[in-house]
Amino acid sequence: MAAPFSLPTTHRALVLDKIGEPLRVETRPTPQVSPGTAVAKILVAGLLSYSREIYNGTRKYNLPTPCVPGNAAIGRIVAVGADATRFNPGDLVLIDIFIRGRDNPSIGALSGVHDGHTEASKRMMHSEWRDSTYAEYAKMPLENCFPLNEKRLLGDPSDGGLGYTVEDLLYMLPQIVPFGGLRAIGLDVCDRVIISPATGAFGSAAVQVALSMGSSVIAMGRNKETLEAVRGFFASQFGEDRIQAVPITNDVQQEVESLAKFGPADVFFDISPPQAAGSTHVKSAILSLRHSGRVCLMGGQREDVGIPLVNVMRNDLTIKGKWMYERGDVARVIQMVESGVLKLGKDAGSRTVGRFPLENWKEAFDLAAEHAGPGERVVFTP
Ligand SMILES: NC(=O)c1ccc[n+]([C@@H]2O[C@H](COP(=O)([O-])OP(=O)(O)OC[C@H]3O[C@@H](n4cnc5c(N)ncnc54)[C@H](OP(=O)(O)O)[C@@H]3O)[C@@H](O)[C@H]2O)c1
Repeated sequence: MAAPFSLPTTHRALVLDKIGEPLRVETRPTPQVSPGTAVAKILVAGLLSYSREIYNGTRKYNLPTPCVPGNAAIGRIVAVGADATRFNPGDLVLIDIFIRGRDNPSIGALSGVHDGHTEASKRMMHSEWRDSTYAEYAKMPLENCFPLNEKRLLGDPSDGGLGYTVEDLLYMLPQIVPFGGLRAIGLDVCDRVIISPATGAFGSAAVQVALSMGSSVIAMGRNKETLEAVRGFFASQFGEDRIQAVPITNDVQQEVESLAKFGPADVFFDISPPQAAGSTHVKSAILSLRHSGRVCLMGGQREDVGIPLVNVMRNDLTIKGKWMYERGDVARVIQMVESGVLKLGKDAGSRTVGRFPLENWKEAFDLAAEHAGPGERVVFTP
C-alpha cells in the first residue's frame, strides 16, 4: 500500500477531448512536481451552475483541449517542488484556479475553465497548466495553493474549532469572487450597497460578504420568492435593518422609486449572467447612487449595457470592471473565515445538494445547472 502522501504512478482524471464532445474518465500518469509547483490530492472540487455550458460550447469559453477541466478545490499537498518554503505533505489547502503570469501578474486565466483573454494567457494555459482539478491529483503553481488552518476550520467547537466539513470550505470560492469586486471598489463599513442579481451563487454570496464587511445591502432579483428567501435568511443573521430587497421588474422608473425608499446607495455591484442581457437593473442601480458613488461591474453580459452618462458625469460616479480577484483577496477571505467573521456551512445558508464521482460527470453538470440557487453546491469527490 502507498504511504499516505506518496504519489501513485497513475491516477484517474476527467478528460475533455474537445469542447462539445462528451467527457470521459481516463487513467493516466500522475502529474509530477517541478520547481514552483505542488501536487495535491483533490478531496473535493466545485462546479459552477454553468459548467455544462462551458464544456458543451454554449458559453463560448476557450480552453486548450484535450485537457482536464476543473474548478476551485480543497486538497491535501502530496508533493512540492524543491524550491517550496511553506508546504509539507499532508497540508490542507484551498486550490485557486486563477493562474497568473509569474512575470506579469496582469495576465490571468482560469485553469480548467477559460484560457484568458490574451495571447500570453493562452500560451501559459496551453502548455504548463492545461490540466485542472477534476482528477484524483492536480499540479498547480505553489502560489495557487492557500494553506488552511485545519484544526480551526474542521475542529470540534468544544476544542476551539469551527466544526466545518471539507465540503463547507468550498463555499469560500463564491465568497472570494465578490470579495474581489467589492474590495476593488473600496466597499467600506456602513456603505449601502446594491447587489444585483442577488439570487444566484455569486450574488447571494456577495450579500453575505458585504454584510460581513459591515455594509448594509439592497438585494435585487427578478425571482421574488428567491429574493425574499435571501433577504429573510440574511436578515435573520445580520438584522432586519441591514438588508432590504427590491425586485427587478424591468421598469426603470419603478425600480428607481423602490430603491429610493432606502436612500441613496454608496455602491452598486453587478454580477449578472449573460442571460440577463437587457435587464434594467444596471441602469436603475446607477441612477440610485449618491454623489461620488462607485460601481463594480463583474457580470458576464455579452451585450453592451446602457449607462446613464449624464448621471455618471453629474454625480462624479466611478465605474470599475473586475475579473476575479487579487491574490491577497484569497488570503483575506480565508483569514475572515478562520477568524469567524465570515461564516460557512449552515450559518452561510450553504449546503451540498449533490456529490459525484468523476464518472458521473453528466449527472453532476445537470444537477449544478438545475441547482443554481443561493448557497447550493454540487461537487466532485474524485
Ligand atoms: N467577473 C468575474 O470575475 C466573474 C466571476 C464569476 C462569474 N461571473 C459572472 O457572474 C455570472 C453569475 O454567476 P453565478 O454562478 O452567480 O450564476 P447563477 O448562480 O446561475 O445565477 C445567475 C443569476 O442571474 C439571475 N438572472 C438570470 N437571468 C436573468 C435575467 N434575465 N434578468 C435578471 N437576472 C437574471 C438569476 O436569477 P433568477 O432566479 O431570476 O433566474 C440568478 O440570480 C456568471 O454567469 C458570470 O458571467 C463573473
